[in-house]
Amino acid sequence: MVDHTLLQSRCRWAPGLDLVQSAEQASELIKDGMTVGMSGFTRAGEAKAVPRALAEQARREPLSITLMTGASLGNDLDKLLTEANVLSRRMPFQVDATLRRAINDGKVMFLDQHLSETVELLRNHQLGEIDVAVVEACAITEEGHIVPTTSVGNSASYAILADKIIVELNLSSPAALEGMHDIYIPQMRPTRPPIPVVAADTRIGSPGIPVDPSRIAAIVVTQEKDSPSTVMPADEDTQRIADHLIEFFTAEVEAGRLAPSLLPLQAGIGTMANAVMSGLADGPFEHLTMYSEVLQDSTFDLLDSGKLDFASGCSITLSEDCGERVWPHLDKYRDRLVLRPQELSNHPGIVRRLGIIAINTALEADIYGNVNSTHVCGTRMMNGIGGSGDFARNAQLSIFVTKSLAKGGDVSSFVPFASHVDHTEHDVDILVSEHGLADLRGLAPRERAAVIIEKCADPLYRPALRSYFEEACERGGHTPHCLEQALSWHAAVERDGSMQAFQLREPLGRVAEG
Ligand code: COA
Repeated sequence: MVDHTLLQSRCRWAPGLDLVQSAEQASELIKDGMTVGMSGFTRAGEAKAVPRALAEQARREPLSITLMTGASLGNDLDKLLTEANVLSRRMPFQVDATLRRAINDGKVMFLDQHLSETVELLRNHQLGEIDVAVVEACAITEEGHIVPTTSVGNSASYAILADKIIVELNLSSPAALEGMHDIYIPQMRPTRPPIPVVAADTRIGSPGIPVDPSRIAAIVVTQEKDSPSTVMPADEDTQRIADHLIEFFTAEVEAGRLAPSLLPLQAGIGTMANAVMSGLADGPFEHLTMYSEVLQDSTFDLLDSGKLDFASGCSITLSEDCGERVWPHLDKYRDRLVLRPQELSNHPGIVRRLGIIAINTALEADIYGNVNSTHVCGTRMMNGIGGSGDFARNAQLSIFVTKSLAKGGDVSSFVPFASHVDHTEHDVDILVSEHGLADLRGLAPRERAAVIIEKCADPLYRPALRSYFEEACERGGHTPHCLEQALSWHAAVERDGSMQAFQLREPLGRVAEG
């Protein structure tokens, strides 16, 4: 049952109350062949009821759409939409196993985009037009502006650019979210003035998405919560990676290259980045700030510990436990948080201006420091580049972390030649595995290779990497390679399911750390 007093307090735009309808009615506005922009970023703030109704609608009539979001969706929505064959094209990011399979089978055309760029391309009519935007809101203001929930993502531009808008008004979202967003839309190029964000806590926009409310075609009332994040507690290897980084930051502070407040921090999705951020609570750092994309549990751990002064992001994705601690008391954090559109949270110009420390996770890296974040064995999409490129290319310190081994040791994450390159050696300053940290700043390719092999690769694979590198150096070149062998490690995985042929042929217990 809908609580009408609550509804009126959340839908303060009076004509909106006449637009309230069921998700099934609203989803009928979406027709076969349309392009739909939905809210949702890393399982936070996605429209929930309309996508479900769309999956049902697809059982009754042909319905195949292009779906754009901020990033990944929660509540298994990508799975549901894939199973109902609703998705013909999908962008700019996803993390769902069913959708991933459909992408890798060639059934869904996936555009893996830098997350700051999607709406820029739309605005310039390089990606077609948006027919319908579906945006989860915590409120609609008196003038009909839409206040997002736990993510801003691309919602603001989707709503502004779409012909029609469906608002999912989520009455269970904390009222304290209102006022936490900072909605700013860059002006058109080439006469765009500078975007005046000069610190993590700069506010330059409005608390709601300024749409022409006459384009709001339906309001669907929901009460459903975001799904909790899937971030796992740190394991031994992840903790070692975090420890190497903390040691590195401490040394940089001692050397005077960083202040104890470091620089605004960006941490990528997932367990490793979360563990590294949590580890900062134990280091000699103070007055930290974040200028990041996703704010995870670690952000709130650092806020609670008093180490973090302010966090800017475009979504908040929390585990069940952390959510129970944070959502009922959001007021306590409100003046230390801001949620921006993802083109601002990830804006290359702002990242360069603020001198961000970017910490992202690699699937694999090669001996020269080229990083693959997206394609397993160079062909199969994992999730997408996400915001890692927006940050890595422009950060003051661009750091990539990965465990040295994958698939129980059958795969080395450090290889002669990355099978797909998302971040070139030019953009990677530091590589970290559980074995150590390779500081690549100021090193030429031949120097980088030696450091990466000795500091980061697993001892099991170091001898084969060394001999590859030595043979390559004999052949010569600025970035030496044995081209006919360069992808042989990946070919072995395709053929044998493992890189075991390149392992040191001695029991692991007898291998000394190099
Ligand atoms: N070869 C093959 N598979 C590998 C691999 C390798 N070198 N390294 C890791 N994997 C597999 C793991 O086995 C695991 O598979 P599973 O899900 O079947 O168990 C999966 O990749 C994820 O690896 P994991 O070690 O659990 O790391 P993660 O969950 O932190 O994810 C990325 C790592 C790279 C996939 C993830 O960080 C990502 O999608 N990054 C790109 C986007 C990004 O960086 N966004 C942040 C910007 S703000």
